[in-house]
Amino acid sequence: MQFGHFDDEAREYVITTPHTPYPWINYLGSQDFFGLVSNTGGGYCFYRDAKLRRLTRYRYNNVPVDDGGRYFSINDGGDVWSPGYRPYKSELDFYEARHGMGYTRITGARGGLKASVLLFVPVDVNAEIHQVTLTNESDAAKSVNLFSFLEFALWNAEDDQTNYQRNLSIGEVEVEDGAIYHVTEYRERRDHYAVYGVNAPIAGFDTDRDAFLGFGNGFDEAAVPHAGQATGSMASGWYPIASHQLDVDLAPGESTSFTFTLGYLENPRDAKWEAPGVVRKDGAKELLARFATEEQTAAEFARLNDHWSTLLGSYTVESGHEKLDRMVNIWNQYQCMVTYNMSRSASYFETGMGRGMGFRDSSQDLLGFVHLVPERARERIIDIASTQFEDGSAYHQYQPLTKRGNHTLGSGFNDDPLWLILGVSAYIKETGDFGILDEMVPFDNDESKAATLMEHLKRSFDHPLLKAGPHGLPLIGRADWNDCLNLNCFSTEPGESFQTTGNKTGGVAESVFIAGMFCAIGPDYAALARRRGDDAEADRAEKAIADMRDAVVEHGWDGAWFKRAYDYYGNPVGSDANAEGKIWIEPQGFCIMGGIGVEDGKAVQALDSVRERLNTPHGIVLLNPAFTEYKVELGEVSTYPPGYKENAGIFCHNNPWIIIAETVVGRAELAWEYWKQIAPAYREEQSEVHRLEPYVYAQMIAGKDAVRHGEAKNSWLTGTASWNFVTVSQYLLGVRADYDGLVVDPCIGAEVSEYTVRRQIRGATYVIHVTNTGGKGASLTVDGTPIDGTLVPYAAPGAVVEVTATV
Ligand code: GLC
Ligand code: GLC
Repeated sequence: MQFGHFDDEAREYVITTPHTPYPWINYLGSQDFFGLVSNTGGGYCFYRDAKLRRLTRYRYNNVPVDDGGRYFSINDGGDVWSPGYRPYKSELDFYEARHGMGYTRITGARGGLKASVLLFVPVDVNAEIHQVTLTNESDAAKSVNLFSFLEFALWNAEDDQTNYQRNLSIGEVEVEDGAIYHVTEYRERRDHYAVYGVNAPIAGFDTDRDAFLGFGNGFDEAAVPHAGQATGSMASGWYPIASHQLDVDLAPGESTSFTFTLGYLENPRDAKWEAPGVVRKDGAKELLARFATEEQTAAEFARLNDHWSTLLGSYTVESGHEKLDRMVNIWNQYQCMVTYNMSRSASYFETGMGRGMGFRDSSQDLLGFVHLVPERARERIIDIASTQFEDGSAYHQYQPLTKRGNHTLGSGFNDDPLWLILGVSAYIKETGDFGILDEMVPFDNDESKAATLMEHLKRSFDHPLLKAGPHGLPLIGRADWNDCLNLNCFSTEPGESFQTTGNKTGGVAESVFIAGMFCAIGPDYAALARRRGDDAEADRAEKAIADMRDAVVEHGWDGAWFKRAYDYYGNPVGSDANAEGKIWIEPQGFCIMGGIGVEDGKAVQALDSVRERLNTPHGIVLLNPAFTEYKVELGEVSTYPPGYKENAGIFCHNNPWIIIAETVVGRAELAWEYWKQIAPAYREEQSEVHRLEPYVYAQMIAGKDAVRHGEAKNSWLTGTASWNFVTVSQYLLGVRADYDGLVVDPCIGAEVSEYTVRRQIRGATYVIHVTNTGGKGASLTVDGTPIDGTLVPYAAPGAVVEVTATV
């Protein structure tokens, strides 16, 4: 069952009913000002930091779900409705929500009136635009009242939800020329304010929530829209809102549109007042003037669309398989941008008040983002590396506003350091910017402790070697990629953190997964050292990697798959000897990506075990059998009910590792099948089972042991986005940047018999025509001349290089 369809031409997903199984959302903004908007107009927005600069209020865990947002209400002769269906839930004659690249257009029609709301954040503007178009589709003249509505958050989202004894007394607004200014706390330490204005004369306004809704009413019973008359209320404490009233006369067939602008402005501290007690508003006035006419707004909207066309132009495919094309050309790349911007902060599953930027998460997000805006990737790399400690370990998280490490969580997640090498090498392959390795980057944000980025990578590489356990495998620390495999915690108190509590010292818990990472990612460190002329260091690194491979074969192989770990007592985890959790997905992927067992058949055997024990029609589960009871020596993984999250859920983040591993051993059909199992566009037809947005990946789909097998959770902000883009673009379609050229090495099911990839990189364009029969090992021609191997050397900027590949 579907609740809409893709419109690839427009790069949109079109939702055709407000009754989706869950709010299906989109993101606005890609630089500093961001908004989340659902298909019924719910959501909120913020400037830079979802916790500290929240502009509008949103209630998680609310009943009904997703109530509150930017609402436009229409009173048409006493009939009150909203084009997004909510909050009034008046039945609509027509409804459609189109989520596009950085914008959403919600259209509703009722009683001969059509209302359409276009929401977007213009490029490099700190504002959300809400353009409302009303069309009289009836035969009679209409006079309607239009009301805007949004509710301000008192800036700090967490405080806003908890500190009522103060907050209910501090709300302040100003109204000038029909624009509503939110100025709470501006009188004291804040130098920023918000404005909500409209490019037309208003017939009234409200700024006090109780006046607008009527005390005790829900959004759906809002008093002012029902009365058809604003009250001119001025908020004083309690709940400041912004609502405008516009009275609109429309002849039959007539259409008119209004642009509402919600902006965030800052003033210099020493010039923040216009007159005593009056906020200086020139910034807001300039902003509103930029959106004074329909033409201006249309031009800004066109600029946003051009921006996205440019961004998405660096990797495109034409295969004739529309689902494949739309994932690669549009939605997967779009999700990579959103994930890069938001990290794991604000979604309909993350409140924007919790987590900072993850060292490991952000390093992996780079993989799917680096080709979109390489300069921003460079900045991010420096930020991340600056939170590394001198011994190579790292703060697990840092705060985006301050860029400082988070002390509560600290370090000790022993996979963290290696992800930095992966992110940096992806950036260098994309750009050729080896100079970044010479940048001086602080340790622990302390400039006095700065060293070159290359030195940071060396410490990352050495970290697992210095922290090795009795089998020569890296110690796991608090957890590795799997946050919930906590082998040193032994928590027995409800509510304790599984990662940071009780951390037993002197343990010998080792991670086969980190060993696999070391073998998969380490070669990039060796390659960088060699390119810098440091052969001795490169040799040392290669020797260490070879030794690690031996250690995995000796101590990490279980007979038919790779073990997962050794626990605190030195007992195996992820072994046939265990009653539950016999086999885990992570080491199967990364050990094979690290080349272990590829020659001697172990890799194929491990992948066969994955297929037999972990695969389902909805994707590959994380482990099997699921844990049925809490195991204190394993930690959080065993706390989830079977089939959910890390306890045998389908973690979409590491399915790609298996897919890449299948391409390593050349099994194109399996790789292709596994990719299609979780790719959202392919799951669209079973949206009633999947339940979340069919245009983006979710972190998790419930596994085969779960009551709701196939149901997705935690959409949008997940490392799944970048890993799936890497997988489909670089390994299935097989076009990946390397240091000296593009590798063209397809490995995709025979169903995709012919395709063309256009790749723009380092100023040149590569047009790669592939003829495919499945399998692996392409024969290439470059500009008509056959070449040996799979590397197409980088051409001069401006060049257009024609490549053919036959598999
Ligand atoms: C979440 C975390 C990520 C972790 C994964 C597995 O997605 O953000 O850091 O690797 O869960 O536990
Ligand atoms: C990750 C996991 C989640 C866990 C959290 C850590 O996000 O996905 O299951 O609860 O880390 O505490």
